[in-house]
Amino acid sequence: MRKPDFDPFRILFQRTSTAALASLIILAAGRASSQPAPTLRQAAETHNLLIGAATASAYLSEADYATILGSEFSLLQAENEMKFGAIHPRPDTDPRPYDFRGGDALVEFARRHDMKVRGHTLIWHRHLPKWVTEGRFAPPQLEKILHDHITNVVSHYASKVYAWDVVNEAFNTDGTMRHTIWYDQPGIGAGWDTRYIEQALRWAHQADPEAKLFCNDFGAEGINQKSDAIYAMAKDFRKRGVPLDGIGFQVHATLWFDSQAQLASFVTNLDRFAKLGLELHITELDIRLDGDSAASLDAQAKLYGEITALCLQQPACRLIQTWGFTDKHSWIPGTFKGQGWALPWDAEYRKKPAYDAMLNALQQPRTSPHPF
Ligand code: XIL
Repeated sequence: MRKPDFDPFRILFQRTSTAALASLIILAAGRASSQPAPTLRQAAETHNLLIGAATASAYLSEADYATILGSEFSLLQAENEMKFGAIHPRPDTDPRPYDFRGGDALVEFARRHDMKVRGHTLIWHRHLPKWVTEGRFAPPQLEKILHDHITNVVSHYASKVYAWDVVNEAFNTDGTMRHTIWYDQPGIGAGWDTRYIEQALRWAHQADPEAKLFCNDFGAEGINQKSDAIYAMAKDFRKRGVPLDGIGFQVHATLWFDSQAQLASFVTNLDRFAKLGLELHITELDIRLDGDSAASLDAQAKLYGEITALCLQQPACRLIQTWGFTDKHSWIPGTFKGQGWALPWDAEYRKKPAYDAMLNALQQPRTSPHPF
């Protein structure tokens, strides 16, 4: 007869008294808990996944802010300081058209903490300076302004910024192109669907051939008219060798997003973009609440964990970035009246259940099947 398998637990039970066993368990538990828990960054690194946060240089002088950012995250992005209005506040005729101070401070922080940097964003319909919106420029002039802006900003950060959101929010919900100054007016194929995006990607690629170039949008997480339009563009660009490396999914969510149907649709959508050979980033994750009851925070944690797991099970998903990391500095209360509590740290820099849920999801194997 085959000898029973070696079972240390059974042997332990047979050979030790209950009291001795109890003390052994307590000792083992003590050992386990004396091991420091990994940070999000450490847990994510085991999966070759980046963990990012949107940041502002003004907050780096807050000790808690800097400590958490520098230890928990492997990537940072400027929440506002690389947007057109902030980085290029004066016309090119001015002796100092650019202001790189905020962006440079963030890049320097990232360098000191061995973090990557995402650039956000070269083309957007918001955050434009008056000299652009009220300049009454003719299309060829706007083309030059855009070309010079992309070339100068991307060159300034060449080899420092790992990926750029070249175009942000270019599509309407119904999949048509959003009317913006950049779509409507520059002389680079205005009104020709995605032609201006193609041109912008080519300019950015010329300025830094190493940078990964992204299109970023909101409300395109699941399969819908907007994500269909982005998919059609991406497929066309990949076929024709236009330098598009990835797609950013913002994921500014509410608890409403926590449904089997929506999460499954997100999974299917990521999968079709992955099949085009694109890198996928979750770029602006936050989950806003109407209050901070324990039940709301737990529901929020569940969804943070699910989104983290969903990215982990998709090999092309290489970044999970939250839009800020502390409720103290979140954009939500200022934008969505009565809402807030959207991030994994509270306003006193205490970890919330959302943090534990993310960490827990990151400690699962990358290949485990998603539950949706
Ligand atoms: C937001 C910032 O968080 C705010 O501080 C700012 O006032 C407006 O912009 N989608 C984006 C981000 O791509 O750039 C936006 O950031 C949030 C929505």
